[in-house]
Amino acid sequence: MTVQWFPGHMAKARRQIQEKLKLVDIVYELLDARIPYSSSNPMMNEIIKHKPKLIILNKADIADPAVTQQWMNYFKQQNQAVITVDALHQNAIKQIVEASKVILKEKFEKEKAKGLRPRPIRAMILGIPNVGKSTLTNNLAKRKAAQTGDRPGVTKAQQWIKVEKELELLDTPGVLWPKFEDQRVGYNLAVTGAIKDTILHLDDIILYALDYLIQHYPDRLIERYHLSGPLDDKIAVLDEIGRKRGFLQSGGYVDYDKVYEIVLREIRGLKLGRLSFECPGDMKQEA
Ligand code: G4P
Repeated sequence: MTVQWFPGHMAKARRQIQEKLKLVDIVYELLDARIPYSSSNPMMNEIIKHKPKLIILNKADIADPAVTQQWMNYFKQQNQAVITVDALHQNAIKQIVEASKVILKEKFEKEKAKGLRPRPIRAMILGIPNVGKSTLTNNLAKRKAAQTGDRPGVTKAQQWIKVEKELELLDTPGVLWPKFEDQRVGYNLAVTGAIKDTILHLDDIILYALDYLIQHYPDRLIERYHLSGPLDDKIAVLDEIGRKRGFLQSGGYVDYDKVYEIVLREIRGLKLGRLSFECPGDMKQEA
């Protein structure tokens, strides 16, 4: 389910999240490892202000590992704590607890020096729809705690999930809006399946994805679709895929709609392997 974000929703989400921030020591900003920039909220740092933050690159199991490593280096260079996670298949508790303890070491040592009793770290997950907030919450809770579905802000009555002796998590993650103003972000969210009912046209999404694949993963394309022609003409590539797969209409014309549908499904279904659609270098180029 996707949510329509209006300025009122955004203001409300922000307000609700800021209210909850008072209760926690640390924020887990969940990003899609395939598109860390496009899956971030444009105002995250403004919203959380000086609250310590751990970036969690989720869905690492389906992202290109070499590119994920580039992103890890990129965030570390900025002194931003970051870990990768596969919330769907892997127990993420240990990694998250360890990383949180490192970030909050000083704060907890100060509390101890003041004579305060040791207490668990309190945390909340934040992220845009579909980055895996509910999946990670369930993973940490080891039970079905979070309901999948996107609602602006934090909607349910809050409860703490005891993850371990050392960590307590707000059971409802904070839902934030994506960057709407950047069309490239819209394409990345659409290609990776984060937004389904999209105002973007399927042909534009595929042409965008194809462009990226031609530039970054030409061999995967050639191998998957047994392409023999040059890759510089995207329409010719779609044509060749259509003909090789037999997606033809009467008169022998390629049924492009079918090609778009299949190519998108195969990209999302990992038929071209683990792909990332953004690397830190792309952002530098833009800057
Ligand atoms: P949200 O709360 O942030 O909105 O996201 P949610 O947990 O609902 O996850 C969105 C989709 O992403 C789900 O797929 C979920 O299974 C998948 N997902 C979450 N974490 C991971 C991960 O680490 N690896 C992989 N491979 N997938 C992950 P879904 O229910 O099938 O929805 P959809 O794919 O049909 O949108």
